Amino acid sequence: MSRTTPIRLTVNGVPRRVAAEPQHTLLDLLRDDLGLTGTKECCLEGECGACTVSLDGRIVDACLVLAPEADGAEVTTIEGVAADGSLTPLQQSFLDCGAVQCGYCTPGQVMAARDLLARIPHPSVSQIQEAMAGNLCRCGCYRQITEAVVAASAAADR
Ligand code: FES
Ligand code: FES
Repeated sequence: MSRTTPIRLTVNGVPRRVAAEPQHTLLDLLRDDLGLTGTKECCLEGECGACTVSLDGRIVDACLVLAPEADGAEVTTIEGVAADGSLTPLQQSFLDCGAVQCGYCTPGQVMAARDLLARIPHPSVSQIQEAMAGNLCRCGCYRQITEAVVAASAAADR
């Protein structure tokens, strides 16, 4: 018999209550309990960054966070980034720069880049590469992803 753990958290500004299996991860909670499938499931080992979300203001691999650890937390997922339904300049830059091929890594890439630009509005190429190193892209769009972050940084000045 499994015992669930009651969890209260705020996801994309909305208070949510979930009865989670204690061994479930934040990724399970988001995708399976809340239906927020924009956050992707891939390696489940903290290696690929596909599951990147913001947890209390810092980005984490949701596959490495147990659901009960998110009790009381503020979580932002890719669904919460374009809150009014319009793409953010960063998301538009990903499209404009051809940084989206299959798109599987894109939500995690956007979350990581968003975090970087919040901390460093005008990052150098090496700072971008360092900040994005935990987000793998099997389509090999690394150059375009870097260009997208540079373009978004420049767009913020206009
Ligand atoms: S699925 Fe979480 S880091 Fe790969
Ligand atoms: S766009 Fe396909 S994995 Fe990155």
